[in-house]
Order: sequence, then structure tokens, then C-alpha cells
Amino acid sequence: MNVMLCGDFDAAEAQAWQQALAAAMPEARWWTPAQARAQPAAVQAAVVANPQPGSLQGLPALRLIQSLWAGVDRLLADTTLPAGVPIARMVDPAMNAAMAETALWATLALQRDFFTYARQQRQGRWQQHAQRRADEWPVLVLGQGEMGRTVARALAGMGFPVTGWSRNPGPVDPGVTRIAGDAALRQALPPARVLINLLPLTAQTAGVLDARLFAALPRGAGVVNLARGRHLVDADLLAALACGQVGHAVLDVFHAEPLPADHPFWAHERVTLLPHVAAQTDERSAAAVAVANLRAARDGAPVRHLVDRGRGY
Ligand code: NAP
Ligand code: GLV
Repeated sequence: MNVMLCGDFDAAEAQAWQQALAAAMPEARWWTPAQARAQPAAVQAAVVANPQPGSLQGLPALRLIQSLWAGVDRLLADTTLPAGVPIARMVDPAMNAAMAETALWATLALQRDFFTYARQQRQGRWQQHAQRRADEWPVLVLGQGEMGRTVARALAGMGFPVTGWSRNPGPVDPGVTRIAGDAALRQALPPARVLINLLPLTAQTAGVLDARLFAALPRGAGVVNLARGRHLVDADLLAALACGQVGHAVLDVFHAEPLPADHPFWAHERVTLLPHVAAQTDERSAAAVAVANLRAARDGAPVRHLVDRGRGY
């Protein structure tokens, strides 16, 4: 099988992926975009990480596009994507576990006032706050897919009352209240001390973290955006932080990345920033996931975690 590897990697990342993929599938030929362009009719699959728009056109034998990213919003925004070629996204249990670690850290820090204590340390202020129990700190997780369910299960295991919201009703995990639809979301917002966003970015979910949603949360709630920057209306969050409606925000993703140096989030004392690292794709586990799908496509077997282009995830 001839596979093109292309994405927004730097040279070291490209080499690390090339090595990991070649080790997992030594029988394949692994081509850089330049090598693939020299013989486009021979390219049978592409392993991609947010490739430049247009990178996947003009490859007549292409039978699978395997994303190294879990979220495919940038990939699907490429209007030149070849129609009819299946797209699979990255689903890696190690990545789900990393996301659960990030969500646990953020939730614990919000529940136990650790972000407040970090701020007090910078001010040289010794002040104790009442200790809260996990079972009195409800958490609402938007999205109950691979990431959202893993996060919800981990939080439930720590004793938090967890509600998980998705488009459709789905499997119910122990300790997690599963809800679907807008009416159920409206009821779940007022008790939620922490809101964690793990939705895919689609036409329906863009801007979901807005003033209306913040107003429905209890005063001082924590907002944790681990999905995409465009889910959040930045100005609405800044206004909700200014009036105390949102107590603290943990943000991993932004409209523009890297976050521009003059963005007010950088210096905001009630915002904790991460540089899009909540769950990074790790070639040590993800290469095997990608290769399993490539082999399935080669052998005519079912490919896993296919993207539904119509719904956008
Ligand atoms: P997934 O398995 O596709 O799950 C998506 C979930 O969102 C599903 O439960 C789906 O509902 C729900 N959903 C979609 N549209 C909805 C809507 N309009 N209303 C309500 N629920 C809706 O995706 P995943 O693997 O969990 O990943 C989620 C997102 O996390 C990715 O798209 C990516 O943006 C982000 N991510 C971020 C990082 C990071 O490092 N920051 C890393 C990986 C992923 P149904 O179950 O009803 O379909
Ligand atoms: C990271 O944000 C991903 O979608 O994999």
C-alpha cells in the first residue's frame, strides 16, 4: 500500500510519525507529500493531520483518509476534499485517558479552590476557604462521545454528580446521568458547578458557550473548554467573568492558535490557559490505530471511526 503522510507538522514531528507508522506497517510505502505528488495515481491512502487545503485532491486511487486528529473540523472545511473517499478520525484510548486527566485536574482545581490559592500565592495572601466535597459539586459534560464519556466516567469515579449531554440518547455509564436535547440541557445548567465542553465543532455547536448559556449556570460556575476555540464566544466569557457569573475558566483551545499575544485571556486572573494540550495524539499508541484502519481498507474490511461528513463529526 502506498500511503501519503501529510499535515501541519514540523520536520521533527513528521520524522517521528514517519518512523512510528513505518514500524507499525513495514509492508507499506510511506511517502511525503512531495514523493506522493511525483506519482499521484499510485497513492492509495493518506494519513493526515490538518493538511493544507487542496492536499488531497488529484489522487484517483485514494481509498482512505485517516486523520491523526480526533476532531475533523479543519479537515472537513477543505472544499476540495475528494467526495466519496471515506474519512476516519483518530480514536485512541490513550488519548481519551489523557483528556480525562486534564478534565479531572481542572474540575478538582475548581472544586477545591486550587486556582484561587494559586492566585493568592502570587499576591502573597494567606487565606483559607471552606472545603467542598465532590458529591456537592455537579459537573455537566457537553458531548458524550469517546472523550466526553471517558471524562464523565472518570469524574463519576471521583464522586462528582455527573450529567452527560449529547444529541441522541446513548449508553448510560455507571454514576452518569445521560441527557439529550435542548430542553434537557436547559434543566441541567442551573445546578452545574462545572461545565466541560467536549463537543465536536460543527455548524450546530459553534458559539454554544455564549452569554445565554453562562447566564443559566449557577453564579460563580467554572467553564472548561477542551474542544475547540470556536465553541466559545470570547467576549461573552469575558463579560461573564467580569460580573462574577463565571468564576473561573480553563481554556485549552482558541479561535486563533497560538493565542495572539494581545488577547485578554493571557493576563486574566480568572482564566487558566493551556496551549492546546488537553489530549495530544501520541504516535506510540496512535500509529497502531491508524495502521489497523489502513490494513482494513487495503483488505476490504470495515474501517473504524468513520466520519459522517453530513453531520460534521
Ligand atoms: P465524538 O466521539 O464524535 O463525540 C461527539 C459527541 O458530541 C457525541 O456524543 C455527539 O452526540 C455530541 N454532539 C455532537 N453534536 C452535538 C449537538 N449539536 N448537540 C449535542 N451533542 C452533540 O468526539 P470525541 O472523540 O469525543 O471528541 C470530541 C471533540 O474533542 C473533538 O471533536 C475535538 O474538537 C475535541 N478534542 C480536543 C482535544 C484537545 O487536545 N483539546 C483533543 C481531542 C479532541 P451523539 O452521541 O448523539 O452523536
Ligand atoms: C485535537 O484537538 C484533536 O482533535 O485531536
